[in-house]
Amino acid sequence: MSKITVIGAGSVGAAIANDLTIQGIASEIVLIDINAQKARGEALDIYQGAHFGTPTIVRPGDYPDAEGSDVVIITSGLPRKPGQTRLELAQSNVNIIKQIAPQVVPHAPNAIYIIVSNPVDVLTYVFHKVSGLPEKQIIGSGTILDTSRLQAQLAKLFHVSPKNVHAHVYGEHGDSSFVPWSLANISNNHIDYYATHSPDADRITWTCDEAARAEVEEYVRTSGAQVIKDKGATFFAVAMSVCHICKCIFSGAGTALTVSTMMHGEYGIDDVCLSVLTIVDRNGVRGKIMNALTEDEVAKLHNSANRLKEVISHIE
Ligand code: LAC
Repeated sequence: MSKITVIGAGSVGAAIANDLTIQGIASEIVLIDINAQKARGEALDIYQGAHFGTPTIVRPGDYPDAEGSDVVIITSGLPRKPGQTRLELAQSNVNIIKQIAPQVVPHAPNAIYIIVSNPVDVLTYVFHKVSGLPEKQIIGSGTILDTSRLQAQLAKLFHVSPKNVHAHVYGEHGDSSFVPWSLANISNNHIDYYATHSPDADRITWTCDEAARAEVEEYVRTSGAQVIKDKGATFFAVAMSVCHICKCIFSGAGTALTVSTMMHGEYGIDDVCLSVLTIVDRNGVRGKIMNALTEDEVAKLHNSANRLKEVISHIE
């Protein structure tokens, strides 16, 4: 079975470890934190409930305990404060990722690494530079959560299951993220067509215009900040998203996810990490799906890339 190491036992790391346990995704989970007592407490709390679900070993550890991990999840870092953007966190969390990489990578050189801490695209890029690992082993959680927020919201508007919604958030996990609406589908129909041809047409209020799109994008972009304002932090939804990435890694099939990976000239973008639809499988990143974006959508992707490059140019 599989072993997952979670670095950072704060709210996000602990929620991930708990969800992994509930869903029976790993047979062994190691929790590592600079605050060893916190890691011990969280591991014990999760372990003592585990046998009601799928029995799982959950234990605190130090970096050598990551040995043999199939997946390593990095959640360490300062959390976003109310009113703070993800990019404002950059330098302090970059320093943390630079400290963690050389300590864990030698013990788990074959693991697939999922970077979750914010600003996730910048940290994924830095992890590429400092870890020395093959690129396919590095995945930033990117806009998987934004995509989930988008699908949940469109599902509500269109009265269908989120599983029938094929719409995605591209770009930065942050203020410049956007939805390539030209590709947004519900049950095989472009959403604008679906709005007037579904059995729910009489109660769907979608107006098929810029304003309707902008409203949904704004809702998605501000959801994280809204949750932080309301409850001080976000962790349940991000934890479920990260568990989903783990399931996709362990599944034999490739799964298309919006996760943050290194760009190599796709859509004319190079040397930055951001999210586009990417196939993830047992080996990590299989490759990106080159969906046909409109000119305007490509320009938005460039805008995300430029914002991220600007931040990267200012960090050490
Ligand atoms: C959010 C944080 C994880 O969007 O960035 O909820």
